[in-house]
Amino acid sequence: MSLNPQQESTITFNPWDPEFIVNPYPHYGAILAKPPPVVKVGARSAVLVARYADAKAVLHDHENFRSQPPWSPNNQGPFAGSFDILGSDPPRHTRLRRIISRAFTPRRVRDLEPRIREFTRALLDTATPKGEFDIMAELANVIPVQVIAEMLGVSPERHGAFKDWSDRIVDASAKLVPGAPAMAAATAADAIEAVESAAAYFTEEIEKRRRHPGPDLVSALVAAHDESEALTATELVQFAVTLLLAGSETTTNLIGNGTLALVRHRDQFERLRREPSLLPKAIEEMLRFDSPVQSTGRFPHSDVELGGTQIACGTVMFVINAAANRDPARFPNPDEFDISRARNDHLAFGDGIHFCIGAPLARLEAQIIFGEMLTRIPRFELVHPEAPQIYKDSYFLRGLERLMVAID
Ligand code: HEM
Repeated sequence: MSLNPQQESTITFNPWDPEFIVNPYPHYGAILAKPPPVVKVGARSAVLVARYADAKAVLHDHENFRSQPPWSPNNQGPFAGSFDILGSDPPRHTRLRRIISRAFTPRRVRDLEPRIREFTRALLDTATPKGEFDIMAELANVIPVQVIAEMLGVSPERHGAFKDWSDRIVDASAKLVPGAPAMAAATAADAIEAVESAAAYFTEEIEKRRRHPGPDLVSALVAAHDESEALTATELVQFAVTLLLAGSETTTNLIGNGTLALVRHRDQFERLRREPSLLPKAIEEMLRFDSPVQSTGRFPHSDVELGGTQIACGTVMFVINAAANRDPARFPNPDEFDISRARNDHLAFGDGIHFCIGAPLARLEAQIIFGEMLTRIPRFELVHPEAPQIYKDSYFLRGLERLMVAID
């Protein structure tokens, strides 16, 4: 049975508008009050899933709401026809997730602690004597990509190339989504070249680790590969490349957005100084209040109904976890930044089968970085508190271009 045609709402939704990018939250208010609206995003119809209950329902119902679009095979670049863990559905996703989880263990994350602390201290040693510094350039843009490189066993002399691939992939990823303004041909070609370089590098490394396994994640993935249930060589390389994007820019933006929330809410900042044991809760509140991943995508493969809205097969669905995290039906006073918030079960890391595999690592990095900053810098504040903040040109990954702070 086919549903009635979906009714388009009068709500305008242009998340690539510069004003929207600076502050998307007032725009979410209108869509949190109603059933998921059908809107125009670029030339396409899209459904906006903002309410917490609706977003949770979609993320848990991977039968009806899939990560892979029904219309397009992935037919470009070195991974043509092969969806990565983020973009795949069961049974492929189940298999990828099971094998990857065998290598991406809590122990492996815990073991990174001393290195993350070492990186953080070295960067703060350089930055703090200057009296003022850019949190993004000197800390947040550097550590997460360094940690991923360390985890994958990338040799120190390749760290520069690794960061460069990551930057170029991140830059293009902002524009590679349905409805986004068209990407310049040069940007697309640049990103494909970066993915190909990273893929060529990892293909070689995988061969080396097969012969001489080390303590790194690539060796562990190769070992998982050699068991009966295996990752193919392409899947292995593809996962390493996925981590460049999924594991670095997201954590970078948690550090930036979280610092901004603290400096703009002095009472909460002072409270955290007085009660450092609140740090884990404060990090959860940073994730809820200004989520580094604003939205993810899903696609129904047949006509469905959600929260009172009829949705046609193949419609793009924006599951706006950042809006769900501000839903007053789930979070009392959702626009308040409260580091001791009770029952903070936000959706910043997603939910269901695609729940972020790197959440423990992101939390560990944030604990170390904020912990070191709070201990080593007695007070800091924005250099230009009145000036509007400049955001990166991406809707899905929300983050600051710069964040200049002055140390008292
Ligand atoms: C604050 C930092 C981070 C945030 C906010 C974040 C957010 C997310 C979200 C929302 C998803 C689910 C996407 C979906 O349902 O479509 C996800 C999945 C994923 N994340 Fe993260 N992430 C972060 C850090 C990391 C790190 C550090 C890594 C790895 C080192 C990582 C690796 C992944 C992977 C591999 C997936 C796909 C899991 C799957 O499809 O089963 N993430 N992340």
